[in-house]
Amino acid sequence: MESSRFPESLVHGKCSSKERLARNIAERLSAYQDGKKKMNPKPAQYVSTRPKSYIDWIESRLSHYVSQMTWSNEEVGLDFGCGSGHVTRDVLLPHCPNLTKVIALEVQPAVVDYAKQTFNHEKIEYMVLDIMERTPQEWDKMFDKVFSFFSFHFVKDCRKYLNTVRRLLKPGGYFLTLGVTSVPLFYVWSEMSSMEQWKDYFKLGKL
Ligand SMILES: C[S@@+](CC[C@H](N)C(=O)[O-])C[C@H]1O[C@@H](n2cnc3c(N)ncnc32)[C@H](O)[C@@H]1O
Repeated sequence: MESSRFPESLVHGKCSSKERLARNIAERLSAYQDGKKKMNPKPAQYVSTRPKSYIDWIESRLSHYVSQMTWSNEEVGLDFGCGSGHVTRDVLLPHCPNLTKVIALEVQPAVVDYAKQTFNHEKIEYMVLDIMERTPQEWDKMFDKVFSFFSFHFVKDCRKYLNTVRRLLKPGGYFLTLGVTSVPLFYVWSEMSSMEQWKDYFKLGKL
C-alpha cells in the first residue's frame, strides 16, 4: 500500500483523540514528502542509538542466508542504501569473506561523507547514487550479490527497482533484502485506507 500526499489542512487541523495516531502518521509522511525531513539525516546518532538487537537480528539472518548461497573465491557485491556504512563494514564484510569488493550506494551525500570517514575499508567503495536513477551501464551483470538492509521500504516503484537489481546481477547471482515486513503501523494504515475520512488519502499499490 502506498500513501498519497497528505494536505496541510489534514496535517495541521484539529483531530479527535481517536485520530491522534493517524495524525501522527500523516505528519511524518508529509514531512518526508515535503522534503522537510530527510531520511536518516544524522548517521552518527543513528549508529549510536540503534539497539543492539537490530544488529543481532541482521547478523543472524545474514548468516543464515549467506550459508545457503553459492560462492566463488572473488566476488563483487552491491549494498543498496548503505546509510552510515556501519552494517556494510562491520556486519556484511565479516559474514561474506569472499567479497573482494563492495560498492555501497547511498542517496544522501552527507551520509556518504560520514561513511567514508567512519567506516572506511579497502574493499568498500562508497558512492552517492540514487538506485532509482540510471546506474552506469558498465555495472550491468557486474555483481555476484546485491544486498539491501532496511532500505527496500524506501522504494516506491518496486518493479523498477527489482528490474534494476536483475540487470545488475550476474546470471545466477543473489539478491538479499532484509527489513521490516510487518509492524502494527501497517495494520493502522490498512485500517485507515478503508475509513471514510481517510480513504481518499490512500491508494493500493500493485507489485
Ligand atoms: C534505514 S537506512 C539503512 C542503512 C543501512 N543499510 C543499515 O542497515 O544501517 C536506509 C538508507 O537507504 C537510503 N536510501 C533510500 N532510498 C535510496 C535510493 N533510492 N538510493 C540509494 N539510497 C537510498 C536512505 O538514505 C537511508 O540512508
